[in-house]
Amino acid sequence: MEKTINMQINMDAGAPVMEPQRQFYYMDLAKNLIKEREKAYGRKLTAHVETFGCQMNARDSEKLRGILDTIGYVQVDTEEADFVIYNTCTVRENANNKVYGRLGTLGNYKKKNPEMMIALCGCMMQEAHVVDRLKKDYRFVNLIFGTHNIFKFAELVVRALTEKQLVVDIWEDTTQIVEDLPIERKYSFKSGVNIMFGCNNFCSYCIVPYVRGRERSREPKDIIREIERLVADGVVEVMLLGQNVNSYGKNLDQPMTFAELLREIEKIDGLERIRFMTSHPKDLSDELIEVMAQSKKICKHMHLPLQSGSSRILKKMNRHYNKEQYLTLVDKLRAAIPDIAITTDIIVGFPGETKEDFLETLDVVRKVRYDSAFTFIYSKRSGTPAAEMEDQVPEEEVKENFDILLKEVQQIAAEKAKALEGAVLPVLVEQVNEHDSTLLTGRLSNNSVVHFSCTADQESGTNSHADESLIGKIVDVKLAECKGFYYLGELCR
Ligand code: 5AD
Ligand code: SF4
Repeated sequence: MEKTINMQINMDAGAPVMEPQRQFYYMDLAKNLIKEREKAYGRKLTAHVETFGCQMNARDSEKLRGILDTIGYVQVDTEEADFVIYNTCTVRENANNKVYGRLGTLGNYKKKNPEMMIALCGCMMQEAHVVDRLKKDYRFVNLIFGTHNIFKFAELVVRALTEKQLVVDIWEDTTQIVEDLPIERKYSFKSGVNIMFGCNNFCSYCIVPYVRGRERSREPKDIIREIERLVADGVVEVMLLGQNVNSYGKNLDQPMTFAELLREIEKIDGLERIRFMTSHPKDLSDELIEVMAQSKKICKHMHLPLQSGSSRILKKMNRHYNKEQYLTLVDKLRAAIPDIAITTDIIVGFPGETKEDFLETLDVVRKVRYDSAFTFIYSKRSGTPAAEMEDQVPEEEVKENFDILLKEVQQIAAEKAKALEGAVLPVLVEQVNEHDSTLLTGRLSNNSVVHFSCTADQESGTNSHADESLIGKIVDVKLAECKGFYYLGELCR
C-alpha cells in the first residue's frame, strides 16, 4: 500500500533548504545509489523495518517504509536483509534489553553480508547512555537517529550509504513538523494519523517527555487534508494519535480543542470510524464527552489510563487527579454513552506503593469493570523523578500484586465480553483469519476482535475460502459465542 507524493526537484541546484523538498532531493540521490548497488549485486536490495513499542512508533515505521520503498528497497519479513532498521521504545527497561539482544543476531547477519546497513532510531536513541553503549559495543551499526528528526530519514540514508563510518544525528528537541512525506500503510482501509507529538505532563515514572520532547499539535487543516487523502485512498477508519490527545490544539496559533477537531473530522464524507488514543483523565472535557455522545462515527471506546487507584500514589506520580475524580469521570462517560467500552493502563509497584495502595487500585478495577486493561510492573527509568524516590518496592511483593491484578482484570474483561453474546453488531472486516481461511476477522466499535463465517457458505455445506471482497467493509455480524477475549460470529446478510 503506497501513497507517494510526487515532487519535482531541480537536482542541479543542490539540496534545497526547505522541507519536505530537501528530503525529495535526497530520495532521488538515494534511488541512484540503490540502482548502482542493484547492478553490482545483480538483484534487488531488500529492507526490513522492525517496530518496538506503541502505535506512535507503528505509524513512524510506516513513514520509514514509505521512504525505503520510494528509494527502491523491497520490503521483506526477515531481518536477513540489505537494510534493517529498528524503531525502538524505551518506556520500560525490558524494551531496551530486547533491542540489545536482537542486535547481536543482526551483527551475525552482517558477517555474512558485510554491505548490510544497520540503522537504529526511535525513543531509545534519545538517551545518551544508549548511544554511548552502541558506539562502544556494537560497532557494526551504520546509522543512529532519534525521534525529532525522523523526517530526515532519506538524507540520513544517503549519508550512511556514502560515508564509510557510523552516522549519528540526535536532536535534543524540535518545534518542526514536516508534512507530506511518503508513507507506506500496513492496512488499506485503516490508518493511524498523528495529531500531536511529544508530551508536557511529566508523570514522575515516565521517560516519554524526555525522549519525545514538548507537546506540538499539527495544524487542523493538515490533519483534515491527510484524512481526506486517506479516505480517497480507501481508508474508512482512522486512529488519531497523541500522547495526550485531550490537550490537542492548546499551543496552536489559533487554539482549538480536541472536541472541536473531532467535530471537523466527523464531517469528512466516506470516513466511517474515528478512534483516538491516549486520553489523560485530567484533560478529558465535558465538551469531548458531548461530542462523543452525539457522534455517529467516533467509536464507543475510551482508553483512559488509571496508572494507580491510590490518591496518594497518583500524587507521587504527578497525575493531577485522585481516585474519586477518576471514578466520577467514568460515571460521567457511562451516563452520556451507556455502551462505551473503557480500557486502561495500570502500573504495579511504583516506589512507596503499599498493600493498601494496591488494594485501592484493585477497588477501582472492581468499580469501573474495564473491558480490558494493560498491566505493567513499574520499571525504573533513569532521569525520571521516580527513579530517585526511596522505598522501591521489593520484587516478590510486586509480582504477587501483579498476578492478583492480572487475574482480576482478565476475569472482569471476560464477563464484560460475555454480556454481548448473541448481539448483532457492525464489524470492520480486517483480514482473512490467520489460522482458518474460511473465517474473516474484524473489529467491533469497542475494539473487540470477532472471527466470523459467511453464513451463505455454511448453508451450502461447503467449507470454502472466506469472502475477501468484504475486507475494509463494515458488515453486521451476530456474536454467536464469546471466547473470553474474542467472539466467534456469523455474517448477517
Ligand atoms: N514503568 C512501567 N510502566 C510504565 N508506563 C510508562 N512508564 C512506565 C514505567 N516507567 C506505562 C504507563 C503508560 C503506558 C504506555 O506505559 O501505564 O500509560
Ligand atoms: Fe508518559 Fe504521562 Fe506523558 Fe503518558 S501522559 S506519555 S504516562 S508523561
